[in-house]
Amino acid sequence: MLATVRLTILAIFFAVANLKVAFADGPAPVPVAQAFASSSDGTYKLSEYKAPVQGYGTPGCSIGNKWNLTVDDSPNGHKQTIKGFGATVTDATVALFNALPADTLQNLLNDLFNSSGAKYQMVRHTMGSSDMSPEPATSYDDTNDKTDSKIPHFNTSDRGVAMGELLDKMRLVQPELTIVGSPWSAPSWMKTPNNTFDPAYTQHLGTYFTKYLRAFWGGMGVKINAVTIQNDPLSALPGLPRMSISAEEAVQLINNGIGPAIHEVGSQTAIWAYDGNTDNSDYPQTVVDGSSSYVKAVAWQCHAVLDNDWTALSDFHDKNKNYEQYMTNCWLKNDSAWSAASDFTLGPLNNWASGVTAWTLATDTQNGPHLAGEGVCTACVGLVMINPTAKTYELQTHHYMLAQFSKFIPRGASVLSSSLSSASSRSATGVDAVFAETPDGFRAVVIVNKNAQDVYITVETRVAGEIWSGPVGKTSVVTWMLPPLGDLD
Ligand SMILES: *[C@@H]1O[C@H](CO)[C@@H](O)[C@H](O)[C@H]1NC(C)=O
Ligand SMILES: *[C@@H]1O[C@H](CO)[C@@H](O)[C@H](O)[C@H]1NC(C)=O
Ligand SMILES: *[C@@H]1O[C@H](CO)[C@@H](O)[C@H](O)[C@H]1NC(C)=O
Ligand SMILES: *[C@@H]1O[C@H](CO)[C@@H](O)[C@H](O)[C@H]1NC(C)=O
Ligand SMILES: *[C@@H]1O[C@H](CO)[C@@H](O)[C@H](O)[C@H]1NC(C)=O
Repeated sequence: MLATVRLTILAIFFAVANLKVAFADGPAPVPVAQAFASSSDGTYKLSEYKAPVQGYGTPGCSIGNKWNLTVDDSPNGHKQTIKGFGATVTDATVALFNALPADTLQNLLNDLFNSSGAKYQMVRHTMGSSDMSPEPATSYDDTNDKTDSKIPHFNTSDRGVAMGELLDKMRLVQPELTIVGSPWSAPSWMKTPNNTFDPAYTQHLGTYFTKYLRAFWGGMGVKINAVTIQNDPLSALPGLPRMSISAEEAVQLINNGIGPAIHEVGSQTAIWAYDGNTDNSDYPQTVVDGSSSYVKAVAWQCHAVLDNDWTALSDFHDKNKNYEQYMTNCWLKNDSAWSAASDFTLGPLNNWASGVTAWTLATDTQNGPHLAGEGVCTACVGLVMINPTAKTYELQTHHYMLAQFSKFIPRGASVLSSSLSSASSRSATGVDAVFAETPDGFRAVVIVNKNAQDVYITVETRVAGEIWSGPVGKTSVVTWMLPPLGDLD
């Protein structure tokens, strides 16, 4: 009897001791999902939002339609790798940033490029003037010298130097910044009166790119990761800075001019083909077929006259598996829908794009500065509005909508194949989503809701069989950060 009691006491003692050991280690960490939102009305600006729960949860009574996102988390479901998101740095951007006092400029750079801010990791910059330049339009070689293909008068001039210095400051804040250079035009003397490229100057334009890379990389220490040959190469509307160049001429220019020139500089700068709208896939096809040893990627824009269609990128991928794709240019205007930036990011991401740059990074309170000529976009607005008189800046709704992707889907993340369906009614619209996995194993789900009512979304991973559910507020973008799979029970 006594022995039994002793044993029991002993057993209780060990049980309590074990419990103590268990608690000394602490309870197993409960994986925490988080959510962040930006809303059209500015109530949320990358703000914490109601986190998703594991399982189906309980939709509140204010919920409109319900949606399901089914994710292919098998190896085959892992698609393209992300390079980054951001916008185009124009002469206007440079002039406006430089109008800010040093401490304000540093705050702005942190808001845009630091991990504490939007973590933009890709910018495109204009080589010479675009329409978003103060007058007059310039190139890096405005001195007509048709005879000498060494183009002895090449000079980035003060504007080019200021551009390089700003790009350098951006990369100081964001060392993983990918920088892409794009000309809006070759020097005017290399063009016909009709604003088309004159193939007689193939060598000259090759040298132009060499000298550009030497000036920026060698001279100013700004590594240029990639170039496109010509912004929007099918547009030949009058006036500088614009130029049309056919796909066949682009092939000649890459193979006999720019390709060997980059090789000679040793800068390993990638050449991205096309840089034009989704309604002409023949152009990039001709360029990659003709210049496969030099071209590694294709750049697309969104300004197709008829409906822009991002599935052109998936179609291109089906035929050309080894080329990266990017969305390099889509404008934001003063009357664009609040969701414009998320639309031109989410669509390309779900169609194999590795990066997105908006047009443009900064404008002033008058949508400028810009050139005065015909066809200039006087309604285009930047992600940031800068008031050079008051020396202040204001991050715009478009910035937050792009940051909902950029901050949470870093370089090296991969996009997973997914399909979205309405669980409520066949006619439900206005919701879209993308699922990505970060290099650290976190999963980012970015959901756009254009409805004037909250919606409820359930995400299911096919292989791992996880289920996560939660609300997405009306007219807003919500990003869920799901913990790595290994951290879950
Ligand atoms: C879709 O989500 C709802 C919860 O909103 C859930 O009840 C339903 O089972 C899901 N359907 C599928 C096919 O996962
Ligand atoms: C380049 O242009 C700048 C003006 O932007 C000028 O000061 C400089 O002298 C020029 N350099 C050469 C070598 O012409
Ligand atoms: C980025 O932000 C962090 C936190 O706010 C700050 O400590 C750091 O200095 C910033 N980086 C740069 C390069 O300014
Ligand atoms: C310019 O365009 C006009 C009208 O289309 C055409 O007649 C002319 O031949 C073109 N000139 C050049 C140099 O291409
Ligand atoms: C947009 O900008 C253009 C050009 O400055 C102006 O005419 C127009 O009124 C603006 N529209 C809105 C909605 O602000």
